[in-house]
Amino acid sequence: MREILFDRFGGPDVLTLHTDSPRPEPAEGEVLVEVSYAGLNPLDFKIRDGSSGMAEGLPLPAGTGREMTGTVLGAGADLDLAELASRGLAPGTRVFGMRRPEDRRGVAAEVIAIAADDLSPVPDEVSSQDLPRWAGLALAGLTAIATVQDAAELGEGRSVLIHGGSGGVGQLLIPMALEAGASRVWATGRAANAERIRELGAEPIPYDEVDWREALREATGGEGVDVVLDTHYFSTFEPSLDLLRPGGDSLIVVLPSLADLTPARERGITARIPRIVTGRDRLDRLVHGMRSGAYPLEASRVLPLSQIAEAHRLLEDGHTRGKLVVDVRS
Ligand SMILES: NC(=O)c1ccc[n+]([C@@H]2O[C@H](COP(=O)([O-])OP(=O)(O)OC[C@H]3O[C@@H](n4cnc5c(N)ncnc54)[C@H](OP(=O)(O)O)[C@@H]3O)[C@@H](O)[C@H]2O)c1
Repeated sequence: MREILFDRFGGPDVLTLHTDSPRPEPAEGEVLVEVSYAGLNPLDFKIRDGSSGMAEGLPLPAGTGREMTGTVLGAGADLDLAELASRGLAPGTRVFGMRRPEDRRGVAAEVIAIAADDLSPVPDEVSSQDLPRWAGLALAGLTAIATVQDAAELGEGRSVLIHGGSGGVGQLLIPMALEAGASRVWATGRAANAERIRELGAEPIPYDEVDWREALREATGGEGVDVVLDTHYFSTFEPSLDLLRPGGDSLIVVLPSLADLTPARERGITARIPRIVTGRDRLDRLVHGMRSGAYPLEASRVLPLSQIAEAHRLLEDGHTRGKLVVDVRS
């Protein structure tokens, strides 16, 4: 079968298309899935270049990708097909999901074995043209839940600044912050993405046209915000500390896992990095949000599997709008 593998850590070109990989065997609790699309995430290039903690001790050659959509082909011997069907995961069902953090196998392959608990069915009404959005939903969505609900404990009446509002996670952070009762939500992004940020329900701050610190200060009458959700970190983290409303309960959540939170802690400011919690209940919440239109995540670009190195280059530019997805069948 076709599969993307890399045999050393390095640039995008270490990703190689193999056409003779053996089909995997499902282990205990796993199903076999024929993958249609794989969603890409910055974590993919951080694992590929060896900079992520998840690259440590990773056996090579390794696969790439963490989230996908596809069709269930069958199940491991221990799984009862009737029980699987009662969970909506019978063979023939379209599913989406992501590998749990401790499962470091890739998903950019024709067929994968994956824990049944890490999947949820794609609703019947979803058209095949709409599947790329579902391929990019699980990792960004579970991250957004971990950020808004677990790390920020966002509640009614809080004001929020989101950095990177039109990125993969950002496009879900905005609606989830509003859903949690945020009083006002501002989001930074390039001017080219301002309209998209507005559509999602936030007030855009085009950082390439205005000084975003000044704009936020002005918008809040000098008070600042209660919560910052920072998907970018590099040039945004430290200046954001000056934009948190003084007082005991303001906080900043920073997404990149290797972020150094010391500057916040030295100032007595609560700073956290979210940790993804996988599982069916959270995936089903994402299904509900996609169905209702509350989470209008977009897949801005779909590339064929053979162009995955190019997709990684685009991802590394750091200006992805919504999700980048590869079509595993082409
Ligand atoms: N802790 C975790 O478990 C976890 C989970 C998932 C992701 N992450 C991390 O979270 C980060 C974001 O992930 P993602 O999937 O959303 O990435 P992404 O889809 O590549 O989005 C990147 C976003 O950053 C914005 N951006 C770039 N430069 C900026 C700047 N100077 N100021 C403000 N925004 C800027 C881009 O907007 P413009 O194009 O408008 O500039 C784009 O919206 C990554 O570092 C990822 O590794 C962590």
